[in-house]
Parts: sequence; structure tokens; C-alpha cells
Amino acid sequence: MDLFEYQARDLFAKHGVPVLAGEVIDTPEAAREATERLGGRSVVKAQVKVGGRGKAGGVKLAATPDEAVARATDILGMDIKGHTVHKVMIAETAPEIAEEYYVSYLLDRTNRTFLAMASVAGGMDIEEVAATTPEKLAKIPVDANDGVSPEKAREIVEAAQFPAEVAEQVAEILVTLWKTFVAEDALLVEVNPLAKVADGRVIALDGKVSLDANAEFRQPEHEALEDKASANPLEAAAKAKGLNYVKLDGEVGIIGNGAGLVMSTLDVVAYAGEKHNGVKPANFLDIGGGASAEVMANGLEIILGDPDVKSVFVNVFGGITACDAVANGIVQALELLESRGEAVTKPLVVRLDGNNAELGRQILADRNHPLVERVDTMDGAADKAAELAAK
Ligand SMILES: Nc1ncnc2c1ncn2[C@@H]1O[C@H](COP(=O)(O)OP(=O)(O)OP(=O)(O)O)[C@@H](O)[C@H]1O
Ligand SMILES: [Mg+2]
Repeated sequence: MDLFEYQARDLFAKHGVPVLAGEVIDTPEAAREATERLGGRSVVKAQVKVGGRGKAGGVKLAATPDEAVARATDILGMDIKGHTVHKVMIAETAPEIAEEYYVSYLLDRTNRTFLAMASVAGGMDIEEVAATTPEKLAKIPVDANDGVSPEKAREIVEAAQFPAEVAEQVAEILVTLWKTFVAEDALLVEVNPLAKVADGRVIALDGKVSLDANAEFRQPEHEALEDKASANPLEAAAKAKGLNYVKLDGEVGIIGNGAGLVMSTLDVVAYAGEKHNGVKPANFLDIGGGASAEVMANGLEIILGDPDVKSVFVNVFGGITACDAVANGIVQALELLESRGEAVTKPLVVRLDGNNAELGRQILADRNHPLVERVDTMDGAADKAAELAAK
């Protein structure tokens, strides 16, 4: 989960990374009071989860509270690389900036380690520095068990050739930033710019943090950081029910049990769709190992709630949860949805294989629901679902 800059700022402040005051607002008028609280000047910063805000005109200085209102008016509603600005941060203005540095920690999957990156050539053009003069961007692996001790921090500072007068401050920030990275279960923490200002202080002026969703269970405070307003409502509903649902842009809804089966179902549907007007998967939902009637009903409700869905492919390989249980689940789910007043109106193609497949197929045959079609092979069922979606 990527955070907004103001959320990153708050986490930095919580762990002791030096930041400036800032508050987030969503109306131009609120910029006035916020700027007054900061002594009459501020920096108005677009809050969008995409880089390059400054270059797009989303970061502006305001010398008076009136000017802050005017800049907030300009920036709120702006489109930055396809992201609409709904919130701005009113930040304290830094004393004159003398130098802009870059520091970050991230999970380096390729090398199976963590990585520190640092450069004295930070600021808005760091991507270009990395591309054209990579020698100016120091990359130092960080061992997960050793972490960033003061010695390790000095190694990073030396590798990036930070000037002597800021070396100690930067090293201290690197240690604190690592603590933040670990404590928050982050996958990325980035400070750009880490600025040296006129009075000699080194301050984080912009932060980017990405949190590891797999650590949610031990990070109860992270839930409040979710951007619920811009989440897909069906994804949010699925999450609330403990289901893994992902929205795609085609026409065939997909339900399967187990991530591997679901992934290969996406492939066979996309392949079959080539023969049927190019239809593609509309979404997918993994109901996991157990497929009770309730789980199946919840899954169907979410898949069918997507208006793009024209047909549904239920692909189940019976294991510990046998096919007869899944078939009963489907039958009961259809009744459950009907009783909730959400009777199914789109065709369902069901393929059951594995444990007790025969019994499961028989249950569906006996129920003989007009919208449920059984196809016994995965390719055949994918073809049928694509054909029905193309109609
Ligand atoms: N509080 C501040 N006071 C003074 N100057 C600031 C402040 N915040 C940012 N700036 C200046 O504005 C520049 C751009 O700001 P920032 O780094 O937040 O945006 P950005 O880099 O364009 O955005 P992104 O990180 O999303 O690409 C900074 O490099 C810095 O020079
Ligand atoms: Mg920046």
C-alpha cells in the first residue's frame, strides 16, 4: 500500500526523522487558517500517489494566507498523470534550501536483500541522475539481520560522498529511517529531497512510503491509512468479506479455488476469448480452500455486482473441499441470492474436477438451473464462458 506524502510525513515524525510541520486539507478556504498557523507562509503541495508533482505544477510557494487559498484553488481538482488531486498538504516553508539529497531503503527482490540508496544529487531530477550518471547514486545492500547501525550508516554516507558538515546528521537520519522502515513493515521509504537548509539543519522535505500489506495483521494502525474513498467498491466489499478479488477490464467473471488455478483460468479465458470477439476476464476471485454456500454466495454476489460481467466461469478443482460440497454451495448460493432479491440473471459456466467430481456434477444436473451450464473440461468451459460473454 502506497501512502500519500502527508501520511509519510506523519510516520517520519512519529519515529523521529526530522520533518517540517504540515497538515492536510481538502478545501481552498482551509488553506488560509492552516497557513496562518504556520506564521503566514506555506508551501501548497498536491497529495497524489504519483511522482513528479512539482514539475506538473502541484507544489507552490504561498507568501501570504490569501495566496495559499489561491494556490490551493489552482491545485485542488488538478489532474497529475491521471490522478485527480483531492487533498493538498499545507507545509511549513523550509528556510532557504542549500542542497538537496536523496536517500531511500527498499526491498531488493532480485538480490534477495534490502538496499540503501543515497545521492548528493537529489531533488526533482533523481530519476535522470540514476539513468545518466548512475555513479552518483550509491547502492549499498543492507542485511535484514544486521540492519543499519551507526557504522553501516557511515558506510552509506561515505559511499554517497555526503559533505563532511552534514555527514553526522545524515548518518543519524539513516539510522532513524531504517528504524521507521522496520517498525512500519515498509517495502519502501524514500526521502527526496532530504534538504540541507540555510541554518545547517538537514530535513526531509518530501517522503514516499510503501507498506507491506502482508504485515497488516500486526499493524492495526495501518488500516486507517487506507485510501478508502478511491478504492474500487467491489474490491473493498470483497476485502471486508475476506475474499481475494481483483478487477480487470474484460467481460468474463472468474471464480476459482486457489491462486494457481485462478491464474491459469485467466489465461485459458483470454485465449478462448480470441475466438469470441476478443472477450477477456472481467475480474477474478479466489474463494480459497473452503467453499461453503456462504463463501460461494458472497463470491458470486461480488462477481455479479460488476456491471462489466456478461458471463461467469466457476472453475473448481476439488481437494479437501470436495466437488459435491462446492456444488451444494453453488446451488445454495443461487437460492441465497434469490432470497436476498438479487436473483442471478447472467449465465454461469461451472467446471468441477477432482475429489467427488461426479457427485458434484450430479448435484448440479439434478438442480437443473436454467442459467447454470456444466462443462467438464477447463478449455471447454472457458470457451463456453467466452462465447456466452460475446453474445
Ligand atoms: N516545505 C518546503 N519548503 C520549501 N521548499 C519545498 C518544500 N517542500 C518541497 N519544496 C521544494 O519543492 C521541490 C519539489 O517538492 P517535492 O519533492 O515534495 O515534490 P516532487 O518531487 O515534485 O514530487 P514527487 O516526489 O511526487 O515527485 C523540492 O525539491 C523542494 O525544492
Ligand atoms: Mg520529491
